[in-house]
Amino acid sequence: MASRRSTKTTNGASADAMNDAAGRSPYATALRSVTCGSLTAKAVGERVVLTGWVAHRRDYGKLIFIDLRDRYGLTQVVFDPEGSAEAAAAHAVANQARLEYVLRVEGVVRRRLEGKENPSLATGEIEVEAQKVEVLNTAKTTPFPIADHVTADEALRLRYRYLDLRRDTMRKNIELRHRAVKFIRDYMDERGFVEVETPILTKSTPEGARDYLVPSRLYPGEFYALPQAPQQFKQLLMVAGLDRYFQIARCFRDEDLRSDRQPEFTQLDVEMSFVAEQDVMELIEGMLIALIQQTTSKRIQQTPFPHLTFADCMERYGIDHPDLRFDLPLRSVPAELARQGSFKVFHDAIEKGGMVKGLRVPGQAQMTRKELDALTEFAKTLGAKGLVTLALLPEGPRSPLTKFMSEGELARLVAHMQGEPGDLLLFVADSEKVCNDVLWRLRVRMGEQLGLINHDVMALCWVVDFPLLEVIEEDGKQRYHATHNPFSGMRPGEEPMLDTDPLKVTARQYDIICDGYEVGGGSIRINVPDLQHKVFELLGLSEEQINEQFGHMLEAFEYGAPPHGGIALGIDRLVMLLADGDTIRDVTAFPKMQNGQDALMRAPSPVAEEQLRDLHLRVREDDKPKQAPTGE
Ligand code: AMO
Ligand code: AMP
Repeated sequence: MASRRSTKTTNGASADAMNDAAGRSPYATALRSVTCGSLTAKAVGERVVLTGWVAHRRDYGKLIFIDLRDRYGLTQVVFDPEGSAEAAAAHAVANQARLEYVLRVEGVVRRRLEGKENPSLATGEIEVEAQKVEVLNTAKTTPFPIADHVTADEALRLRYRYLDLRRDTMRKNIELRHRAVKFIRDYMDERGFVEVETPILTKSTPEGARDYLVPSRLYPGEFYALPQAPQQFKQLLMVAGLDRYFQIARCFRDEDLRSDRQPEFTQLDVEMSFVAEQDVMELIEGMLIALIQQTTSKRIQQTPFPHLTFADCMERYGIDHPDLRFDLPLRSVPAELARQGSFKVFHDAIEKGGMVKGLRVPGQAQMTRKELDALTEFAKTLGAKGLVTLALLPEGPRSPLTKFMSEGELARLVAHMQGEPGDLLLFVADSEKVCNDVLWRLRVRMGEQLGLINHDVMALCWVVDFPLLEVIEEDGKQRYHATHNPFSGMRPGEEPMLDTDPLKVTARQYDIICDGYEVGGGSIRINVPDLQHKVFELLGLSEEQINEQFGHMLEAFEYGAPPHGGIALGIDRLVMLLADGDTIRDVTAFPKMQNGQDALMRAPSPVAEEQLRDLHLRVREDDKPKQAPTGE
């Protein structure tokens, strides 16, 4: 049997480090003695039994080489027909074996021929000389190669996800996710947090995204909703005196999908009693630093994490989840500078209550006409009416602005933008929203295009001082909407402003941002029923709606609700960033496609008429699917 040894598997874990006293692999089973990732030169001469999939097969006529793959690695197996009748029989089987066949190989470990070692493989010093082989299962030709750099369309990969997950990168991602979640659980447990499972079948509440509904069989016409987050339950657990709660919680939101958004996803959900902002933030900051150090080789750009106010963040980056791995700040142009000269585009924007805002791109004055046109087109696809470019060339500024501003006026604008010779300045004139929407994406595009993003670094920051409320338009009417969460508390002393100037009230909200993604958010909550009631009223809920939807919360707050607060982190986004990926689909075992379908199970799908009848449902004739989803 294999001797005691410590072999690094590709994920960095030590596969056979825990060999028992007899040197037996902890992964030995009835069908195998060792795994495909464990054998080194120390095992030379040992008889082993390996199981796994045929990853490669090279036929040299007499000799056949098969790389056998399992979760732990690859082992090269040699089939030589000469020597014994058994070996000849094994060679004949190997001759028939195709890629992805499942084999069980018995053989002897030997050193590879000199010069044939593969240092990039943990088992690269050895090979196994097969003496016996059994085909445990055959396999059809896979729809795409099980290789690291797969070019197959993602829809196809998701349709055959079990094959996609055989690929090294995908398996590593799934293992990374496991280690991250395990780390988080241990971290929370060590600090006295109790994990509580909250219901999946719960109540529909407005605010936030659309709910997934589950029809009730026992109560015709009534529905459970799947939780968008365990927000209310965790607050009720604080009323219950649980003091420190966490949960690795599945959440469901019927929203449009994006690379960082799935209809079901996982949160680290946390709530604590008798805390202020810094308690929650310190806990999470400590956890994230340790997690990043444990699971990646990346460096954290700055600790303690910088704190940005929402207002500063919007001014400098145009978005409340900025990528701080590169600089390129935005800058608003004061109205008096925008009104200089006779440039109608700028004048109009200011007159309409909008603004002019710019981005300085250092050293890019030499961009060609074609490159500038591409940037302008990009800005237009984001909703801009155009893009003013101003190149600070040695021979003088090149810009449409030169026709409308004097040299002195232009110089003042350049000075305000802190433009240096050789820089390119880009301006958008529009409403504040459009300026920010366009410029933050332009900033990210420039960061990527100019190679300013250092992938060895993770840049985290807190964003604080959000307004409690914003105005949204619904059915042609304007109303207040909670920027984050209707349960967020407000800065002490600002409560009276709910009556006089609600939009000026600051929420006790904090978001945690990493590399341009919002990975989490939380707040210190309201724990007084009257104040909570008042916020619901401001959000436009009638007395009846408040009672029906949130009566249980207001009632609970009447029984000694402690001051409390918490946070939730998106586990999927966090693991995506740890894996340096750009979609959460790659760190989710079975994600939905961009169109919301599960390509493998082919969900959603129609159900039998009987099932509908049991649930007291009828599908409206005009809504019936024209054809079954194909999943591709
Ligand atoms: P919030 O809605 O900001 O807060 O969600 C917290 C974090 O969850 C992640 N997230 C998602 N990840 C993948 N797909 C989605 N569709 C998705 N939606 C959200 C994000 C986000 O930052 N109850 C509050 C938290 C609190 O106040 O304690 C909440 O759910 O990373
Ligand atoms: P025009 O007056 O439409 O010919 O535009 C003159 C220049 O201003 C062009 O380079 C346009 O791309 C640009 N431009 C037009 N509208 C805007 C706007 N709202 N913001 C920024 N640039 C604009």
